[in-house]
Amino acid sequence: MKRPQKTNKQIINIKGVEKQFGDVTALNGVSLTIKEGEFFSLLGPSGCGKTTLLRMISGFDSPNLGSVYIDGSDMTNVPPNQRPTNMVFQSYAIFPHLNVAENVGYGLKKQKLPKDEIKLRVEEALALVDLEGYGAREAHALSGGQRQRVALARALIMKPKVLLLDEPLSALDKKLRETMQGELRKLQRTVGITFVLVTHDQEEALTMSDRIAVMFDGKIAQLDTPEGLYKRPKTKRVASFIGVMNFIPAKVIASTKTKLSLDVEALGKVDVGASDTIKSGEKITVGIRPEMLTILYEETDDADNVFSGIIVSASYYGDMTYYEVELGNTAIRATVSMRNTAGRPVLRAGTETRIGWGYESITVLDG
Ligand SMILES: Nc1ncnc2c1ncn2[C@@H]1O[C@H](COP(=O)(O)OP(=O)(O)OP(=O)(O)O)[C@@H](O)[C@H]1O
Ligand SMILES: [Mg+2]
Repeated sequence: MKRPQKTNKQIINIKGVEKQFGDVTALNGVSLTIKEGEFFSLLGPSGCGKTTLLRMISGFDSPNLGSVYIDGSDMTNVPPNQRPTNMVFQSYAIFPHLNVAENVGYGLKKQKLPKDEIKLRVEEALALVDLEGYGAREAHALSGGQRQRVALARALIMKPKVLLLDEPLSALDKKLRETMQGELRKLQRTVGITFVLVTHDQEEALTMSDRIAVMFDGKIAQLDTPEGLYKRPKTKRVASFIGVMNFIPAKVIASTKTKLSLDVEALGKVDVGASDTIKSGEKITVGIRPEMLTILYEETDDADNVFSGIIVSASYYGDMTYYEVELGNTAIRATVSMRNTAGRPVLRAGTETRIGWGYESITVLDG
């Protein structure tokens, strides 16, 4: 089942796709390309159009406008069984009345392949998902995680160019889901097939994907690597969907070809990268992540910039504590996260503290 690893070849090319269900616009002009061998995720809140977009790629639905190219061919109106794709559904994952081997071999049996070949490929597929020796097991006698693996094996055995996965892990409990996330990523690297994963879980998307398309209201809000999305979110909405972000008002003192000079409320003056769209005098919002603010426990602790704050509340998570802090002499509250390394006390509400932040940690946000 080995296939070439990531290349620069485009495997999926979606051009200006629109989809209307009565009054509801499920997809509102979506264009994107996915590269061969990529682990690509569609991430967004419920109802933003993720499943609809996946159905356009699989052929279970077709767009009102626009086109879908797969591996260089126009597939916009081609039925699912004639596309080089396969889909793993969340809900009706496997047939309960068939055993594991019959489930996995189902597609090949329909293609009327010789029994010996089916048997061999079923074993190969079961090995891929760590289920060797489970062929005779009845499907109903499997755990949730095992069922999910059978569903994966059943899709992989067809050797699709693209595997489409619609929230494949959402039915599993947290621990098992985390294990399966790691396994799915490993599996994707082994087989080298392009994976397109739909999820509303930002952590899942961040840890698993090469690239992520964040969707809101039937549109792609930002398409980037996990690190790009986290470090350089373009809008407030993307910033608050991916992790925790503090939003702080700022005034633009000067906008030149090389930099933006800002006066950030409570934090003070800072220069950031230039912008074509932001003008001098404008009021904007900047973002700063909780881990970019640091409580300076010791008097000798220092940072680029230091200000005072009062702890409003503390939420203890074992490895981390999240503090809500009122920034010196303003009504602005920010979240500060601190790792609970040896000897660090959890600070109580009301404690006055110094907080440091680095100049490079500010993100300028549009809208
Ligand atoms: N067959 C349909 N008929 C009518 N409206 C539909 C249909 N399918 C989807 N929609 C609507 O289109 C929008 C997008 O739905 P979609 O299923 O793509 O969302 P999603 O991002 O997958 O959400 P979730 O995370 O809840 O699965 C929603 O408003 C939904 O109600
Ligand atoms: Mg969905």
